[in-house]
Amino acid sequence: MTGSESQKTCLHERLLAVPPDQIEERLAQLDRLATLGTLAAAMAHEIRNALVPGKTLVGLLLEKQPEDELAGMVRREIGRIDAIVTRMLKFSGSAQLNLSELRLHEVLEHSLRLIQAQLEGKYISLHRSFQAAADRVRGDEYQLQQAFVNLLMNALEATGYNGTIAVATETLAASDGAPARLQVTIRDNGSGIAPEVMSRLFEPFFTTKPQGTGLGLPITRRIIREHHGDLSVESQPGQGATYHIFLPVLS
Ligand SMILES: Nc1ncnc2c1ncn2[C@@H]1O[C@H](COP(=O)(O)OP(=O)(O)OP(=O)(O)O)[C@@H](O)[C@H]1O
Ligand SMILES: [Mg+2]
Repeated sequence: MTGSESQKTCLHERLLAVPPDQIEERLAQLDRLATLGTLAAAMAHEIRNALVPGKTLVGLLLEKQPEDELAGMVRREIGRIDAIVTRMLKFSGSAQLNLSELRLHEVLEHSLRLIQAQLEGKYISLHRSFQAAADRVRGDEYQLQQAFVNLLMNALEATGYNGTIAVATETLAASDGAPARLQVTIRDNGSGIAPEVMSRLFEPFFTTKPQGTGLGLPITRRIIREHHGDLSVESQPGQGATYHIFLPVLS
């Protein structure tokens, strides 16, 4: 069963569990939630616009006095609010996929180029093993790249100096009527994920990083699911983490 099918089944079961006299109330509740989502997106937009003069002012101040500690702190915090709000917008916005036929290995190469400088900065060695014979997928290039960069950034942030990150692909053959899929594996030998973190991994805004937004993984999973794919993770604390991304492949 795919992720979106299991989500649908789950919703279906939950709806069946609602006593008939409460259905109307639940629907009204859902309606209010949808309105809240729209409101949150509008607010995120306004907040981001309101940050612009503050950013400009602090930038000018720091040009004159680069050592000003307070101004430096304000700039960092404005940057953080900006990142949270930008991601919130992406998270709540209606995901219009711009679909085309892509070579997934090229999308991966491009994503790796974007984090190249950070990898070199931490002397992290990168192992590529692109074994998938077929890598043509129908997808949104920008969104898929964003998903891979999110996962690679997490790996990079969890991995210490001289660590290792491995990116591999392989084709999973069609079986039992299920079409062939492409599996992308991103493995790091960093800090790993503690069980109490694992259970909250995909919760929006859950982060263990001082500068994190906690939206990287929920956005990544949403993107993969919108591509009719799935995402799984396994980890041994202290021994790194491994993400598997499954995507339908074009024949
Ligand atoms: N490869 C990994 N190794 C160790 N911990 C991880 C890994 N990937 C995710 N995590 C944990 O999951 C949490 C949530 O990740 P997520 O990408 O959603 O947000 P974030 O990285 O904290 O913030 P942001 O992505 O906005 O910078 C992280 O804070 C971290 O604790
Ligand atoms: Mg992240």
